Amino acid sequence: MSDPHAVPESPKLEALHRRLAEHSLGGHWQTRERNAALVPHLWRWSVIYSCLMESGEVVQLGGVDDAANRRTVQLVNPALTNKKATTRTLQMSIQLVKPGERAECHRHTAAALRFVVEGDGSGYTNVEGEQMLMEPGDLVLTPNWTWHDHFNPGKRNIVWLDVLDAHLTNHLDAGFHENFGEGPAQPIVKPDRYCKQRLGAIRPRMTNVSGQALPYTYKWIDTLQALKEIAAAAQIDPHDGVLLEYTHPITGGPTMPTIGCWVQMLPPGETTAPHRHTSSTIYHVVQGEGVTVVGDKKGAAKDLAWGAHDCFFVPSWNWHHFKNGSNKEPAIIFSVTDRPVLESLGLFREEEG
Ligand SMILES: [Fe+2]
Repeated sequence: MSDPHAVPESPKLEALHRRLAEHSLGGHWQTRERNAALVPHLWRWSVIYSCLMESGEVVQLGGVDDAANRRTVQLVNPALTNKKATTRTLQMSIQLVKPGERAECHRHTAAALRFVVEGDGSGYTNVEGEQMLMEPGDLVLTPNWTWHDHFNPGKRNIVWLDVLDAHLTNHLDAGFHENFGEGPAQPIVKPDRYCKQRLGAIRPRMTNVSGQALPYTYKWIDTLQALKEIAAAAQIDPHDGVLLEYTHPITGGPTMPTIGCWVQMLPPGETTAPHRHTSSTIYHVVQGEGVTVVGDKKGAAKDLAWGAHDCFFVPSWNWHHFKNGSNKEPAIIFSVTDRPVLESLGLFREEEG
């Protein structure tokens, strides 16, 4: 059916369009290509993991020309295969560092974080000279332009989620990258948990406090304790179950200006209420099994049935709610979102179902 508001076609209009195009101009009435709608999607951990292990056989880390390369398997939204991107703002990838391997030191304007899935706790990320040991469930931040390298001195693989705001950074033409240049690793000058000593609620007096994102590590043991205590106090969000935000240790705002990090616990048998919002979210199941029902229209939903370590994506403005598949065990889900970007630009909008 033709558009009733379209400008009637005519030889004069065609001539005008040709002339506009010749001079790199366009008419507001002319059609333009719109962004493809991103689709809800689930990536099964067994498939991610087997591809990652296979990459460990055929892709070497390091080398002279690609000293700062990483070995990751990237989650790709089926609507963004041309960009090999998980979302328009964020990238989630799964990284493998084998025993004895080092991912060499570099920094970039894309902010990044790691959430550990597997490891014996001996591996670490060095962020700005601080050795941050990585145990399963730990979250390590490497904000914009901070030096970072990874090393696995242990006997077991380390596997973690890498999340970067690289697509947003690149969209803004603000992507810069630099290799350390003084060897494969920066010196370790601060011990593990230095950030907690210096930035905890009881800390040395600070001057020149700014709200900029800081290298920081959130230990799983603390996260799990907080989840259990809030669950015991029955503080349950209707849309997300027991929902906690990882916060900036000084400002109380999001971890980083472009990436928010959350963790939620769905009590046994819990079904949450639907809502939708303009931020999009990538989830990683820490434990448990269940279903997230997602759809851009009410009643036209897709069931994303997840188990431990699966990853899934809920696009902007899609209705969604969660069901814990177990009546006995809680489910725990870590998530990352571009919500801080939407909020800071006045673009965050939410609707309850
Ligand atoms: Fe990096």
